[in-house]
Amino acid sequence: MGKTIPEIILNDGLTLPVIGLGTYKLKGNEGANTIVGAIDIGYRLIDSAYNYENEGTVGNAVRRSSVPREELKITSKLPGRYQNYDNAVTTIQESLYRANLDYYDLYLIHWPNPKQDSYVEAWQALIDAKKWGLIRSIGVCNFLPEHMERLEKETGVKPSINQIELHPFFNQAPQRKWHEENNIATESWSPLARANQVLQNDTIQQIADHHNKSISQVILRWHYQLGAISIPKSSSPARQLENISIFDFSLNETEMSMISGLTRPDGRINNQDPAAYEEF
Ligand SMILES: NC(=O)c1ccc[n+]([C@@H]2O[C@H](COP(=O)([O-])OP(=O)(O)OC[C@H]3O[C@@H](n4cnc5c(N)ncnc54)[C@H](OP(=O)(O)O)[C@@H]3O)[C@@H](O)[C@H]2O)c1
Repeated sequence: MGKTIPEIILNDGLTLPVIGLGTYKLKGNEGANTIVGAIDIGYRLIDSAYNYENEGTVGNAVRRSSVPREELKITSKLPGRYQNYDNAVTTIQESLYRANLDYYDLYLIHWPNPKQDSYVEAWQALIDAKKWGLIRSIGVCNFLPEHMERLEKETGVKPSINQIELHPFFNQAPQRKWHEENNIATESWSPLARANQVLQNDTIQQIADHHNKSISQVILRWHYQLGAISIPKSSSPARQLENISIFDFSLNETEMSMISGLTRPDGRINNQDPAAYEEF
């Protein structure tokens, strides 16, 4: 019996656990074993993407797991090169065939790619795929407010969630505030900043020592208290368990501000500003 992770409700009624498993680089048999192990200890939300080339791995883990499909929340994402309407529809179907699933719980546009200017037709494909029962909830990644405003203006449908780069070095305060005001959930990618520098940070170490927790646990608790869903990736069963063992302590306002205060304007991991960066 694994740990129970609290859930939040999205604006379209789908519930999601506040921590999921990131799967970038989890592939093949070893990746599937890792994901089955994570499900065994309590993970219910699994993040994947067409471009991670691991939808098959995730689907395999879902079938091998002892947890019923309907208790799992599986995510995938539409790549930039398939944003025109017809390609987007085919790609959603292809994602399902690769995973051998009947539906995705959550399907996201991976990047807005504003210069390409086709994210609105991609969004229309997601809206239609939801109507056809292929997807339960539709959202975006890396969208700026102006991109989401355009989606709603041109299609009448706003995203349930926006998955964005969010960690102590890049706390996304204005973007999170906009999400809150517009009832769009925030999901944090690279929530541990890929375990670079951040895990050696003295400020967070002091807070961790005070609570007798690890730095990763303090950071993931910070995400939770910000109201964001985080999807830390770990291939280690011990670290997967560590990452969901954060519901028996809390950070006070000072500690929250100390962690948020580590943010720097150039704090993005790879300088991927969605206003300019494009990914295909
Ligand atoms: N939408 C997007 O554009 C986008 C972009 C990037 C990522 N993502 C998603 O977000 C997920 C998470 O981001 P990420 O994989 O980039 O980075 P991350 O989750 O911040 O960090 C992953 C790294 O942290 C290590 N780690 C995990 N837990 C740890 C712990 N408790 N102690 C020490 N080290 C720990 C992992 O190593 P071990 O595996 O060895 O434990 C791995 O090297 C991805 O896997 C992917 O699903 C989405």
